[in-house]
Order: sequence, then C-alpha cells, then structure tokens
Amino acid sequence: MTMQRSVVLGCGSYLPSRVLTNQELARAVETSDEWIVQRTGIHERRVAAAGELTSDMALHAARAALANAKIDAQSIDLIVLATSTPDQTFPASAVSVQAGLGITHGAAFDLQAVCSGFVFGLATTDGLLRTGAFKRALVIGSETFSRILDWSDRTTCVLFGDGAGAVVLEAQEQPGTREDRGVLTVHLRSDGRHKNKLYVDGGPSSTQTVGHLRMEGREVFKHAVSMITDVVVDAFKATGYTANDIDWFVPHQANKRIIDASAHKLGIAPEKIVTTVDRHGNTSAASIPLALSDAVADRRIKRGNLVLLEAMGGGFTWGAALVRW
Ligand code: UT7
Repeated sequence: MTMQRSVVLGCGSYLPSRVLTNQELARAVETSDEWIVQRTGIHERRVAAAGELTSDMALHAARAALANAKIDAQSIDLIVLATSTPDQTFPASAVSVQAGLGITHGAAFDLQAVCSGFVFGLATTDGLLRTGAFKRALVIGSETFSRILDWSDRTTCVLFGDGAGAVVLEAQEQPGTREDRGVLTVHLRSDGRHKNKLYVDGGPSSTQTVGHLRMEGREVFKHAVSMITDVVVDAFKATGYTANDIDWFVPHQANKRIIDASAHKLGIAPEKIVTTVDRHGNTSAASIPLALSDAVADRRIKRGNLVLLEAMGGGFTWGAALVRW
C-alpha cells in the first residue's frame, strides 16, 4: 500500500568566515592543541561575526538548500528551525528566516532539543508532512553557541562552534516499503533526570539573563555511547536494516571519540562515517545538516543511499533516523 514519505530534495549549509584555531584558544586559556585534538578530534571551529545572528546563518543555509533542491522559496509552506541560541527569546528565529525568504503563507517555528534538535526537527516535520497539512518544508539547524560560552572555562569553550545547515523535505507518495525514498523511521528519547549535566545557567523565567553553557563533560561522555547505540538499534529494529546496509553514518559531531566508539559498537565501518568535528567543532543542532551538506556537496551521499543520523545532547535528549536519500 502506498504511503506519504518525506523525501529529501536538497540540502545546504553556511559557516561564518572567522576560523578560530586551537592555537588561538591556547593563548587565551590553559589548554593546548594536543589536548583538544587528542580528547575531541577538533582542530578548529567557526565563530559568527559581531551582529551575525542565528537567523542570518539559517537564512544563508536555507537559500543554499533551496538552490541545491532547484526549487523556489515560494513553494515552501513549513519552516522548522532547531536552535538553542535564538536571536531573541521570542519571536521564533524561524519567522525571520520566513520573512527573509519572502514567504507569507504556511507556518514557521523554532524547536529546542539542544544537540538533538535537528533529529527532533526532522521527526516533527516528517509527522506534519505525512498528515498532508504541508507539502514542502525546510528543516534547519542554526547555532551561535559562541554567544553562550564562558570563554574563560577551558572545559567547554574549546568544544563548540557556530554554523547552520538546512534540508528541504517534500511529501511524496512512495510504494510503502523499506526501499522507499525519504525518512523511513525516526526515534526520539529524552530523560530529564540528567538535565543538570549540560545546561545554560540563565533564562527568561529563572534569571532574566541569557546565561552561559555549563557541562559535566565526563558525565555526558559516560552516557553518550550507550544512548546513541540504543536508539540506533531501535531504528534498525523498526526497518529490519542492519549496520551492513548503511551507506553513510552522519552522527552529531560532538567528539570524535564518541563518534568512533558508537560506530564501533554498532559495527559500522569507519569509511562510512561522515566527520566534520575536526573543522566545525560541536555546532549543536547545526552539526548534522552541516555534515550532510558536506557529504552531498562532495558526492559521497547520492540518491538512493541509506543514511543513518543520530544525535545526543542536553536534557538529555537523543534520537536517530534512517533516511533513504
Ligand atoms: O553535544 C552533546 C554533548 N556534549 C558532549 O558530547 C561532550 C561530551 N564530553 C566530552 O566530549 C569529553 O568529556 C570532554 C572532551 C569534554 C572532556 O574529555 P575527557 O576525556 O572526559 O576529559 P576530563 O573531563 O575527564 O578531563 C581530563 C583532564 C582534567 O584534569 P584532571 O582533573 O585529570 O587533572 C581536566 O581538568 O583534562 C582537564 N581539561 C583540560 N585540559 C586542557 C579539561 N579541559 C581541558 C582543556 N585543556 N581544554
């Protein structure tokens, strides 16, 4: 029986031009290139220019995705922007993207699930497209974590970067088998018992300030691999696919050690892993669409490929998706 699937039409990304290297950070805090590379795999990250907003970067990424999909912005009727660093508390940064694209129909809203935001956004968008309420959507991840970092805290300031990525999804009738194109399955999880392990120490309702990112890195690390692999196994069970069937593994880019350990535990071959953490650092909700755009641009990911996405972050939140490109 045929069914509606959310099929990827294209993707695009944007990185601010300013590159911040480990060597520069080592001049500001007690750290070293060697420590950062060994513990995280990060060599450099991007930092947004003064006045460059999350919505500005999201708009660049959205335009790149529309160009890649070869479609007009006016055919988009849904914009979901995953971010934990919105321009303002409200309105949603997504409406600035909508206005920037000249769209006055349909709907636009932000979604916040920290580093898992893109997977949560993909799931939300997939659900809305499959109801028939919307036809074509932009799912965007855009972050300016540089604005919420404590630049004197070496345990966090070396880890994060700024950037944006976007994917265009379209509701299409597909045969209704696991060979279909589009989002085949998405699995979301959260567990608020861990909410104090990775958080921002401010907010409108609590302190009336924006606050700074705080993390018990070792604690997050301890849970990351098992949470990621559990939810990926859920995605495999739901489809009957296994690690051998995956063409590309596009994980959230927090730490190369977490990515490699997760792939190893799942039995995913190292050559199937798409890695950008070395150049981007952890861009939270933007990391997966940034990595997807990289691998699409250099023709690693091609139409028909089976792509596995996963993310884990503050909350804790975590999730995985299987998408046939
Ligand atoms: O995006 C989603 C969520 N975030 C993550 O997934 C991040 C998860 N956590 C991690 O990636 C790792 O835990 C870190 C990269 C944050 C830290 O690596 P680690 O191997 O867990 O190191 P650690 O926290 O156990 O610290 C080891 C040592 C400590 O010194 P002592 O206590 O052993 O004397 C730290 O104080 O390294 C020290 N350290 C540093 N040294 C140089 C911490 N940060 C730095 C630094 N430079 N930047």
